[in-house]
Amino acid sequence: MSSPAVAYARQNQPRFLDELKALLRIPSISTLPEHKGDCRHAAEVLAADLSRIGMQNVRLIETGGHPLVYADWLHATGKPTVLVYGHYDVQPPDPLDEWLSPPFEPTERDGNIYARGAVDDKGQVCVQMKALESLLAANGSLPLNVRVILEGEEEVGGEGIAAFVASKAPELKADFALVSDTELFAPGLPTLCVGLRGMIYTELEVRGARTDLHSGMYGGAAPNPFIALAQILAHLKDEEGHILIPGFYDDIIPPSPEELAAWRSLPFDEEHYRITEVGSRQLVGEGGFSVLERTWARPTVDVHGIPGGFTGAGAKTVIPAKAVAKVSMRLVPGMTPAKSFALYKSYVERIAPAGVDIEVRLIHSGDPCLIPVDNPYIQAATLALHEVWGKETVFIRSGGSIPIVGDFARHLGLPSVMMGFGLPDDNLHAPNEKFHLKNFELGIESVIRFLEEVGR
Ligand code: BES
Ligand code: MN
Ligand code: MN
Repeated sequence: MSSPAVAYARQNQPRFLDELKALLRIPSISTLPEHKGDCRHAAEVLAADLSRIGMQNVRLIETGGHPLVYADWLHATGKPTVLVYGHYDVQPPDPLDEWLSPPFEPTERDGNIYARGAVDDKGQVCVQMKALESLLAANGSLPLNVRVILEGEEEVGGEGIAAFVASKAPELKADFALVSDTELFAPGLPTLCVGLRGMIYTELEVRGARTDLHSGMYGGAAPNPFIALAQILAHLKDEEGHILIPGFYDDIIPPSPEELAAWRSLPFDEEHYRITEVGSRQLVGEGGFSVLERTWARPTVDVHGIPGGFTGAGAKTVIPAKAVAKVSMRLVPGMTPAKSFALYKSYVERIAPAGVDIEVRLIHSGDPCLIPVDNPYIQAATLALHEVWGKETVFIRSGGSIPIVGDFARHLGLPSVMMGFGLPDDNLHAPNEKFHLKNFELGIESVIRFLEEVGR
């Protein structure tokens, strides 16, 4: 079926790409206080763009952190309302010396655009914006009612939008959400994501002596918090990859036999994944579970960094007074952040070695979610994707987390359609993040066709 909006998108593709590049040049790193202004700038650029394309009631909504961007167009009487969601914040770009081109100087190479945020999530926010622009420009109207809500704190837990959603603000009244922040299972394979892991992100602080000490004068008598921390961390998992926190697995709801069977028929080559995506000597994890089960349907414990002590060049003989580890756990359906954190905290307090004090802090958390697929929006999505990609859609879960998706369901009763266009090797959160340009183009066409299909 030919669509004037798709034709408009094809004609304007070079400009769309230029506008994506402009957005990618803004270092909107939500976790770093020195980039607060850049986050607001990115929000303002998006708001200006939403006004330019003809969206209405465009405004920034203030939160305790980085602002939300809101816009709507509500003139499709009798048609459903979609809540379009994405995030304009990005992860820090380090380690900088591993980037082939600078992270905030978007660069085209071999059919991809490279930059921090290229796929996560500015490129995909742009997919949504350009789809709306194409529909409005080609038809003078939208095929359904649209509300847009963009956040700038997704990468740091999304507190601001969580409070806004929990308040059931009238700006969020909709029938379903369109979330473009996920990936295709394989190149060219249209994919809908129907499950995400939740998470708890924590800091574990271990304190020994009152102050840093000379390690010759006091070594042997004073507790070393790094050793104590290492001992605690070493007891979070056993050699087979099982998490040792008592009760941690108790509430897990395993995937159904049908879902597991569908996962087994996905085109997944474990060796290829090991070599091209992970790049390690071997894969690890719980025996008895496939890689997809381990990453989609089993919880994890990971350590992200151990700041503190002496890390400069050369040698300093010191027993640091304290050590910290940043530790997160991914949660799967059935598990809750509150209970998981309580179990972790009491276990860590119990196994802490003698001589140190420990403090366990929760930085942020989000629930896992499973999306219902028996609704007309998912049907419309598979129809549209088939038209654009020429293939049947696969339904997958993802090991990542988008905390607000669970909140959309819980507080607003909204089913989400997680239609994303990243690729497994797009280097999210890593050096040389990219977005495949073909996916940028076909993503725009997919969203156009999807919204047209829902409005039909
Ligand atoms: N877009 C990702 C999540 C994702 C990645 C979903 C790949 C599907 C496939 C999102 O921006 C992200 O990175 N989320 C964080 C959330 C956390 C900080 C609460 C994550 O998963 O680490
Ligand atoms: Mn994202
Ligand atoms: Mn991310």
